[in-house]
Parts: sequence; C-alpha cells; structure tokens
Amino acid sequence: MAQILVVDDQKSLRRSMAITLSRAGHSVDEAASGEEAIRRVDESLYDLVITDLKLPDQDGLAVLEAVKARSTDTEVVIVTAYGSIESAVEAIRQGAHDYLAKPFSHEQILCSVDLALERRRLRTEVRSLARRLEDPNDPSSIIGQSEKLGRVLEIVGEWAASDSTILITGETGVGKDLLARRIKQLSPRAEGAFVVVNCATIPDNIFESELFGHMKGAFSGANRTRKGLAQEADGGTLFLDEVGELPLEIQPQLLRFIETGEIRPIGQNRSMRVDTRVIAATNRDLRAMIKEGRFREDLYYRLNVLPVEIPALRERLEDLPELAGHFLRRFARRFGRPVEAISKKAMLVLKSYEWPGNVRELENVMERAVMLCRGKELRPEHLFMPGSGDLEEASAPTGEGSGVGDPIPLAELERLHILAVLKGLGGNQKRASGVLGISKSTLWRKLKEYGIDASKLASSS
Ligand SMILES: Nc1ncnc2c1ncn2[C@@H]1O[C@H](COP(=O)(O)OP(=O)(O)O)[C@@H](O)[C@H]1O
Ligand SMILES: [Mg+2]
Repeated sequence: MAQILVVDDQKSLRRSMAITLSRAGHSVDEAASGEEAIRRVDESLYDLVITDLKLPDQDGLAVLEAVKARSTDTEVVIVTAYGSIESAVEAIRQGAHDYLAKPFSHEQILCSVDLALERRRLRTEVRSLARRLEDPNDPSSIIGQSEKLGRVLEIVGEWAASDSTILITGETGVGKDLLARRIKQLSPRAEGAFVVVNCATIPDNIFESELFGHMKGAFSGANRTRKGLAQEADGGTLFLDEVGELPLEIQPQLLRFIETGEIRPIGQNRSMRVDTRVIAATNRDLRAMIKEGRFREDLYYRLNVLPVEIPALRERLEDLPELAGHFLRRFARRFGRPVEAISKKAMLVLKSYEWPGNVRELENVMERAVMLCRGKELRPEHLFMPGSGDLEEASAPTGEGSGVGDPIPLAELERLHILAVLKGLGGNQKRASGVLGISKSTLWRKLKEYGIDASKLASSS
C-alpha cells in the first residue's frame, strides 16, 4: 500500500482516479489546486503524486518542483491533455516518472502507478545497500589535502609497519579514531582484530576484568569465565581510546602488560602471553596530568614511543571545503535530499567559525543543514553554529564552558537534534518522525522526556 496524492481540478476525473487507486489498496488524498497540493505535500510524505499539468492556479510543473524539493524519493506522474505532449516530456526531463495522456483507462493508470512505485522501491533499496557498503569508519576515506594532515598520514604510513606503540593526540573530533583504524589497516595486522577499549566509559570497578578477563568464581557475580579485551586483541590491534581517562589504579597493570605482553585474568594464578599492537589516543594533555599526579609518568613514556598529533580543524582550514562536500553528499544521499552544492556565503560562514568540536562538529552541522535544506544549494540560513544566528538554543552547549575536553552529553545532542529538525519542519511531528527514522510514538515520548513543546515550534518556520 502506498500513500498517493491525486491533483486535478476536474472533480469527476480526480474522484475516479482516487477510487481506482483506493480499490487497488492504496491510501489516497486529493487536491483540487496547485496550492492545495503543495500544502498537502508539506504535511505528509507521499510515495507518489499524480498531477494534472493544467491547474487553475499553477502549472503542474510547479507542483513537480515543489514535490522534488521536499523529497527526491517521491515519484511524480503527470496527467496531460492529448495536445500537450511536449510539456509532458519537459516534465519528465525535470524528474517526473511518467505521463498519462487523457483519456486513459483504469488499467493504464494502475500500470503507471505500479511502475512508479517499483522505481521508488528500487531507489530506496539501492540507497540502503550503498549505505551498508559505506562504512563510516572506512579508513580509506580520510578526507583532506592540507599539508598538515598530509604530514600526519605520511608519518603514520611509515610507522604502521612496526609493532611499536603509537600515541595519537589531538582535540576531540579531529579524527583520532579514524587514524587508529587506518594504522591498523596499513599494518601487517590488517587482517587481525581491532579491539577498542574506551577508557572513558568503562566503570573503574570493572576495568581490570574488562581488560584482562576473569575466571569463574573470581569474585561475587563472576558466574562465568570471561575473556578480557586484551586477549580478544591477540594477533591484532588494541586501541586504548581516551587513555587519559584511565583510572590511576589500573595504570600499573596496563604498564606491566605493555612492557611484558602478559596478562593475568582475575582469579587465575599464572599469566599468559598476548601478541597485540597497542595504539592509544587522547585529547588530554598527559604531561599536565603527570604534574597533577593523575597520570603515571612511566606509563606515559611507554605509550609515547611514536607520538603523532592531529592538528585542529581551524589550523588546517584548507581541508574544510572538501570535508564539508564529503558530508553534504553523504547526508544528501542518506536523507534523499536534492542539495548538491554549498553557496559561497555559506562556505564563508563555515570558514570563519572556530570549530571547537572539529570534524565531528562539522559533520553534525552538515547533517542538520542538509536535513533543513529544500533546494539544490545549501545557504547560510541552514547552518546552525554558535554565533551564526537564530537557533540560540542549539548553539548554547558548544559555546562557553564546553567544547574541547568537555564533550556534550549524548542526550543533549539528541534533544537539540530533535529540536532543530522539528523547527525545520515547522513543528510537523509526522514528518519529523520520518526524517529522524523513529516512530511517531517514540518521538512523542522523547518530546515529553525533553520537555519540548512542538506546538510552539509551528509558527517559527
Ligand atoms: N579527515 C577526515 N575525513 C573524513 N572524516 C573524518 C575525518 N576526520 C574525522 N572524520 C569524522 O569525524 C568524526 C570524528 O572523528 P573521530 O575519529 O571519532 O575523532 P576523535 O576520535 O579524534 O574524537 C567521525 O565521524 C570521523 O569519521
Ligand atoms: Mg575518539
């Protein structure tokens, strides 16, 4: 069953098309004018719009354009009088799927609708396959031609072959994760496991057991023997992400592991050898932490064998246009948006911002911008960064006091994202749930949870 909108000012024809399509199991809305059609398209997501080329107020082509600007996934079939085939052909050039010349039979219209829906289905399928192939962590997609980034990639290319420990530093969002994965892929351990230990999220009290494993009965609650992450990484690479957050009590054990390559699961009385390459990353200033007594100096030297620093985005703005274009294409494809380019002014706005959250922040800004953009060109009004204008709320958390070393809680990001999408859609919850890829009831629950009043957003678009 598909959602179809039939647009024709001639009531008898419109009704008869609607009845034919409803009998075929589709859910059909009707509109008698171009204006009404565009209003309906704003309110609901249609799979297909069938529109007469001649409408009292507007051209059918205008309806086509409005539909495609809202969602490139909606198919359009043009209905035309016998004499005006040329304009129907023009409509196809502009993205319509097919045209029907009046008079047409029930069979003809059903056939055209089936083909249009089939095309739509294929298109979404291709996109979801492409998305599955496109691994966001694919290290081959490290974007940027700046000299600074080039130097980082060059050094890392040389070091990848060795088994020595690499310490990657840099502000949050500069691409430390991505680089670690690239090193693994370039290394002789490319086929081995890549095991991530996120030192910031593992609770202190289970750190040792997470990292080194435990035997059944080693402590209360240990009802099974469990392999530690270090052992999972045997033959591969162990990535110690956010290593600056490592609890002080664990640091001597980690040091011992890196020095000897041996682990001892809790409750086991002999140690075993693990063959793994360690890569660590942090956005902290470890030297300052050593002075404050929060990081062990001996561990620091063990980790800092091959140090590499990824410069902040603001220090290599040459990379920005290419990165922004990369994210634009990715999100346009993902959300089915027609946007293709970034306007000169928008690029200026992007380049004049500080990017405390670096590439990750740029990625988020572009995601939101593409979602809000209805045309082919992304303009400054689609960009929401601190200081860039209207969305005061959304800019607050990356402003004072947060940013580097003080990341925004995930729930806050979710709240802002929902808010931005809703604002962009004039408070329309049905469409927002579609764009966000969650059910209407989930959206409703989240609105309640975050105290967002969608009705207040209706007027702001
Ligand atoms: N040079 C780059 N090219 C493409 N994507 C990048 C690049 N640098 C960072 N990213 C993307 O930005 C986001 C943040 O990168 P990440 O490696 O997680 O940063 P960090 O670990 O330094 O906080 C990720 O989605 C990553 O894929
Ligand atoms: Mg990271």
